[in-house]
Amino acid sequence: EKGGYSSFMAKEIDDQPQAVGDTLLGRTNEKGDLILDDLRIDEATLRTIDKIIVIACGTAAYAGHVAKYAIEHWCRIPVEVELAHEFRYRDPIVTSKTLVVAISQSGETMDTLMAVRHAQEQGAKVISIVNTHGSTIPRESDAVLYTHAGPEIAVASTKAFVSQITATYLLGLYLAQLRGNMFRDEIQAILTELRAMPAKLKEVLDRSEHVREVARSMADATSVLFLGRHVGYPIALEGALKLKELAYIHAEGFAAGELKHGPIALIEEGQPVIIIVPSPRGRDSLHAKVISNIQEVRARGAHTLVIAEDGDTDVEAFADEVFWVPQAPTLMSPLLTVLPLQVFAAELAGAKGLDIDQPRNLAKSVTVE
Ligand code: BG6
Repeated sequence: EKGGYSSFMAKEIDDQPQAVGDTLLGRTNEKGDLILDDLRIDEATLRTIDKIIVIACGTAAYAGHVAKYAIEHWCRIPVEVELAHEFRYRDPIVTSKTLVVAISQSGETMDTLMAVRHAQEQGAKVISIVNTHGSTIPRESDAVLYTHAGPEIAVASTKAFVSQITATYLLGLYLAQLRGNMFRDEIQAILTELRAMPAKLKEVLDRSEHVREVARSMADATSVLFLGRHVGYPIALEGALKLKELAYIHAEGFAAGELKHGPIALIEEGQPVIIIVPSPRGRDSLHAKVISNIQEVRARGAHTLVIAEDGDTDVEAFADEVFWVPQAPTLMSPLLTVLPLQVFAAELAGAKGLDIDQPRNLAKSVTVE
């Protein structure tokens, strides 16, 4: 079943272009408009939604965190993202106009299921974004949007994550279409960009040998910091999670803007820092700000590993290593920048002789609270 790969995870990492492509398949009618067939919530109800709360755990929660940037931008609906186990045990403001989006690869995570029930008891409609057909969470939800990543066997999530981002984007564009937040042409243009992503994911994976070499050279690292901004922030969190899960290395992700508010105190000679750089073609000044962050940590001795877009020559002066990714619109970039981080964690864990499919103390789906 590993199809010639040394681990399920290696295979699932390589399956990602296909996973994104399959999640996009069959979502439009002959006119090119989005039709999300399994969304059995009536359109009138969806038009009245005044808030979205995404609930999930682990990697799925980071997919939700990425989705917030896109859905708020496209739909102008406030989106909160909350860990399911926190949502369930406080007193969240949920009404019949709240749309809860539960994201789960397995569809069986007990924390997420309990949060779904809690939301429904308060009158919210629940859409689940799930990979495993017939699982419990979609059965109990009002509607389901299946990711079509195929079975994910390795405990640490990879292809489910990129499919989850893709599915949340489809949901966001669908809501924008339904609620008239965007012109048809704008939605079509974004769908075209999304459909161009699988080939770009493939391109990143084709370049992964450099990431592997660097990862192998870092097998005795004891701590790695990850910095990102905007959609790169949840990707920094996900990169750190992958390294903890697979390689048992202390890792922390930060919003790059927080650096000066604390984390920079951690930087000493040789500290590895992985920085996800926003596109220099983005509309605001985030690119320049993150370049300054690289400079700041480098000046204090950090070993800087930078993920940057093709052609971004600004990064070269301050980067010890650069992992290049193809150019893409900002909101699409997480689908690319997460890939080197997955490869890095898997390769480093492999270099330490660890079982990357079955990390210690973890289970693929946690069916207890
Ligand atoms: C954890 C897994 O236990 O559960 C993670 O190790 C996963 O990989 C998280 O992201 C959530 O699982 P699910 O199935 O709800 O997406």
